[in-house]
Amino acid sequence: MFASLKALPADPILGLLAKYREDTNPHKIDLGVGVYKNEAGETTVLNCVKKAEQHRTDTETSKVYIGPTGSSLFNSEMANLIFGQDHKVLAENRARTVSTPGGTGALRVAAEFIKSCKAGATIWVSSPTWANHTGLFEAAGLTVKTYPYYDHENKNLDFDGMLAALKQVSSDDAVLLHACCHNPSGMDLNQEQWQQVADVAKSIGFTPVVDMAYQGFGQGLDQDAFGLRLMADSVQEMIVCSSCSKNFGLYRERIGACTIIGETSLKVDIANSVLLSVVRVIYSMPPAHGAALVETILSSDELRNEWHSELAQMRNRINGNRQLIVDKLVENGVTRDFSFITRQAGMFSFLGITPEQVQRLQDEFSIYMVGSSRMSIAGIANSNVDYLAKSIAKVL
Ligand code: LMR
Repeated sequence: MFASLKALPADPILGLLAKYREDTNPHKIDLGVGVYKNEAGETTVLNCVKKAEQHRTDTETSKVYIGPTGSSLFNSEMANLIFGQDHKVLAENRARTVSTPGGTGALRVAAEFIKSCKAGATIWVSSPTWANHTGLFEAAGLTVKTYPYYDHENKNLDFDGMLAALKQVSSDDAVLLHACCHNPSGMDLNQEQWQQVADVAKSIGFTPVVDMAYQGFGQGLDQDAFGLRLMADSVQEMIVCSSCSKNFGLYRERIGACTIIGETSLKVDIANSVLLSVVRVIYSMPPAHGAALVETILSSDELRNEWHSELAQMRNRINGNRQLIVDKLVENGVTRDFSFITRQAGMFSFLGITPEQVQRLQDEFSIYMVGSSRMSIAGIANSNVDYLAKSIAKVL
């Protein structure tokens, strides 16, 4: 059976990580995968997570199955985090959340759910988008189309192009939007632009699918959810896929959530029964460990406050790195304007260099970024920024 198979290339993001790990150059820099690193280049376990883990070890009494929905405490804490406690979709009991294996699991569940609503449905994604979105949706049987988003030439949002494309979408299509910290461009919609997109969604009636993988990494937990909350205010049906990988640093624990919003409480219960049947045939039930840590942190005033301050530290370091690299490039005589990096948000920006220049950075300087020149800003540190800026100056 396996004889007909042809080897596939490594995943563009995960393959890069493997290459970086094998590289023995002491000056190597990892600007590839979207993982937070501290000043020392380490991805450590958050203190609030360590405490929640200790609590779990001390208090857990059973490993028995929970069920396809996952932990109800985790689900309700996540709904509060996503929408804010007073949001009308919660007051009207129109949201249902399931725990999922990471944000990718949430997206796959959402895709299978959309397919249950309409076989072969179309989902529109931004151009560009996270490298895994297209493959993931197509693997679930959806048709993927793109709308304009990032203007590479002007290093800005192509908002007119985006809005014009969204006005052509059918009412029974889905549209994927990044809640914040757009991956890969770092270019987010402002509040007024979110309002315009929400108005189009409402008037056409397409289903927004909002991917929130980086809540808290842009401007703050509430600010980063602004567009999503506005959208949920405006439309009758919507899907939210969220991840706890980055903001809780729980990458390998695989914990995220898929939330559906329905027109009424009754209708969303029907939709939820379909969502649960989707879960049952993919992985049956979600992993419990990460969910237990997140619910422990979010339901304790002390741990939640500690998490807020650890998250703010990560966010502030990344934002500081944006200015740092722009200044160092100028210091190293680079005349091209890279100041757009400071106007973007979250883990990523496109450097805007050619694939050949990206390859030279890798081959000659052991600096790893995705071929599109997407840089993970978290990999920059005071200790490597001079070397990075000098190397970029050399390949330009
Ligand atoms: C990324 O975009 O680098 C992250 O979301 C990690 C991944 O799974 O691709």
